[in-house]
Amino acid sequence: MGEYRVMGGRRLSGETAIGGSKNAVLPILAAAVLGKKSVIHNCPKISDTYNTLEILSALGCDVLFDGNTIVVDACNINGCLLPENLVAKMRSSIIFAGGLLGRFGKVSANYPGGCLLGERPIDMHLDAFRCLGADISEEEDIRITANRLTGGKIKLKMPSVGATQNAMLAAVLAKGVTTIENAAKEPEIIDLQSFLNAAGADVGGAGGNIITINGVKKLDNVEFTIMPDRIITGTYLAAAAIAGGKVRLSNIVPEHVRPITAKFTQAGLGVAWERNAVIIAANRRPMGIDIVAGPHPGFPTDMQPQLTALLATAKGESTVSDDIFECRDKHVAELCLMGADITNINSRNFHVKGVGKLHGATVKAHDLRGGAALVLAGLGAEGTTIVKDSVHVERGYESIHRDLQALGADVELI
Ligand code: UD1
Repeated sequence: MGEYRVMGGRRLSGETAIGGSKNAVLPILAAAVLGKKSVIHNCPKISDTYNTLEILSALGCDVLFDGNTIVVDACNINGCLLPENLVAKMRSSIIFAGGLLGRFGKVSANYPGGCLLGERPIDMHLDAFRCLGADISEEEDIRITANRLTGGKIKLKMPSVGATQNAMLAAVLAKGVTTIENAAKEPEIIDLQSFLNAAGADVGGAGGNIITINGVKKLDNVEFTIMPDRIITGTYLAAAAIAGGKVRLSNIVPEHVRPITAKFTQAGLGVAWERNAVIIAANRRPMGIDIVAGPHPGFPTDMQPQLTALLATAKGESTVSDDIFECRDKHVAELCLMGADITNINSRNFHVKGVGKLHGATVKAHDLRGGAALVLAGLGAEGTTIVKDSVHVERGYESIHRDLQALGADVELI
């Protein structure tokens, strides 16, 4: 497995354009099984995208990835058995269940894998399918069948991103009207709605509490461009905040990023906006602040590790809480190896006492965002940091080392 070598102490400056969103492209690729030919632009070349394309190929779709454009032809799709080895690699593969159920009335899958952030049940996904008339048997694998899905009223016990998307996909071709109450409001849900409607679906309300889907008979060919990745935007803003310097990130949607930048501003860092760009100027040590990661429009859990890395060297004390995942905390012990003073009150709540500077160390990425946070910590640390197991980071960043190099950092992937 690869590792990042980061030489700390270089300020960042310059500009980079942000590519397409991982969390938007994965459900949209899964949605492609419902239609005919989907041409999808601005797709990130990350391992999660490649795994998703393997699932599509295994199901019998013709797939082409050229530049950042993916073409999925689902006309000859012939399978509704999700391949076990691929599903085990990636949590988001469960999103295929809704699409395949909608298209074929049945789907079989094993339980999905993904980042180890605590127990990640799929009960809400399955309950949503039941509301649309599906029968589900769960043993070692999950078998879901329905003669014909019918619209229904789905009420999620919490606004799960994946369950909202799965319910949307299952409902698109169902007979009648489906409502999803307490739906997740993340921008990626709106992107999925836009994709489905561009293909001929009738979905409304995404971004709000209730999503309404009027079932249609079929979806058609579609051409669509994936939204920019708000978490990569936040990660590179955090990189500049940790290393110091001034960075401009273009091709972003400001409203998507504001829940993140609100915290930078609160910590005393300068953030400025252009129509499709954000600029961060970090000329002094940030102040300690309190962070609570929650559902959109709250602070995103996918930025919690990167902000924890930033607050490790802030002036004063901070608290970090993660209301979404029960143990998104593996980066904490690694940051402590670099000299951070962070106490786990429990696996969801940390107390951070800012230290002047971290020092280089050999640390390990345990998951995607936690791994990115360690690379960022290395930028501001004294000496060399080695971040082992880059494979986790490559799931969500096309080339974090090259992007940071372009901004003046001394980072390489070995
Ligand atoms: C998605 C994102 C992930 C992000 C997360 C929260 C993708 C591919 N991944 O993950 O990057 O961190 O949203 O913003 O888009 N839960 C249940 N039962 C269920 C489903 C979820 O209890 O059936 C719980 C989960 O364990 C978790 C919480 O609900 O504690 C939120 O999870 P959810 O919003 O579903 O996250 P994902 O869709 O898995």
